[in-house]
Amino acid sequence: MEISTTASTAAVSDDRLAEILANPGFGLHFTDHMFTVEWTPDAGWHGARIEPYGPLTLDPATAVLHYAQEIFEGMKAYRHEDGSIWSFRPEENAARMMRSSHRLALPVLEVDDFVQAVDALVVADQRWVPDSTEPGAGEKSLYLRPFMFASEAFLGVRPAQHVTFMVIASPAGAYFKGGIKPVTLWLTEEYTRAGRGGMGAAKTGGNYASSLVAQQEATANGCDQVVFLDAQEGRYVEELGGMNMYFVHDDGTIVTPEIGTILEGITRSSIIELAGKLGHQVVERKFSIDEWREGVTSGRITEVFACGTAAVVTPVGALKWDGGEVPAPASTDLTMRIRQALVDIQYGRAEDTFGWMHRII
Ligand code: PLP
Ligand code: COI
Repeated sequence: MEISTTASTAAVSDDRLAEILANPGFGLHFTDHMFTVEWTPDAGWHGARIEPYGPLTLDPATAVLHYAQEIFEGMKAYRHEDGSIWSFRPEENAARMMRSSHRLALPVLEVDDFVQAVDALVVADQRWVPDSTEPGAGEKSLYLRPFMFASEAFLGVRPAQHVTFMVIASPAGAYFKGGIKPVTLWLTEEYTRAGRGGMGAAKTGGNYASSLVAQQEATANGCDQVVFLDAQEGRYVEELGGMNMYFVHDDGTIVTPEIGTILEGITRSSIIELAGKLGHQVVERKFSIDEWREGVTSGRITEVFACGTAAVVTPVGALKWDGGEVPAPASTDLTMRIRQALVDIQYGRAEDTFGWMHRII
């Protein structure tokens, strides 16, 4: 893919950038540039460019605003101690975006083009990749958000004939305020996230829109995140609004809900491999809410944790629902060891024995 570049003349000053990188938060500040490429049935993908970051002008009839034909990805670029910059399994994000494209009837962007687009933006905005090596700097990274949407101005309900793919980037610190401490979960019994044949396995905005009312319920009940159960029986744990889940048992095995209607997380599949290397078998199967309640109460479940690109690996504390509560599991030991093993690879502090890291610069 041929990419043209227009440098930003209004780039953020070095002083302001240092301030932002000292305390980036999540999804608050955006880099100096953005990547765009457009698609039409006749021309295919064309007009790839990196331009100064800025607002889009959209026709009010732009299809995505009405019918939500949209998909996205979430990934990160990490700066290693020697200054080099790397991403984590970017071809997996590209492959998942291809699967999401299929479900949302959007055109396919090839893996190589996806990776090239992301790399080109990181190169253009490399000064925005935070340094995490200073003591107390925490685990900072540059969060990358590739997304694709129906950009045709047309109100008929059919796959758009004009589609736009973009990449934007935002420096990231801890996803949860207060750093790494167990998150409290709210079990929603009214709302579900995905049904059979639905969009649960696709990374599409609608899934997040549908999670918000349940998340509001969680917040109103003093919880950090919401847990969704399967839509058919309301019995099996699916995932959180933005993370996959794991249950550590006292015999050392780890259970994670099987794929189907959940998002197939890249952190999730990486942890399955990592845990194996640490001597823990991971079983992918249906896992009922009763098993969770009884397991924590009896001590058979020793740890619960959640994972995702934004939140990395986060211990899970208490589970609450209307009229009841399961206390936090006894330990966070293995959770923190898995977390450390993963971030050590991502930040270049441990050997990348799985070949997961992709060097950008
Ligand atoms: N589940 C949902 C609903 C998510 O939004 C995410 C975040 O991307 C995940 C799981 C974890 O996926 P990944 O590890 O690829 O970030
Ligand atoms: C991610 O972890 O990348 C996500 O997309 C989760 C959330 C920020 C939507």
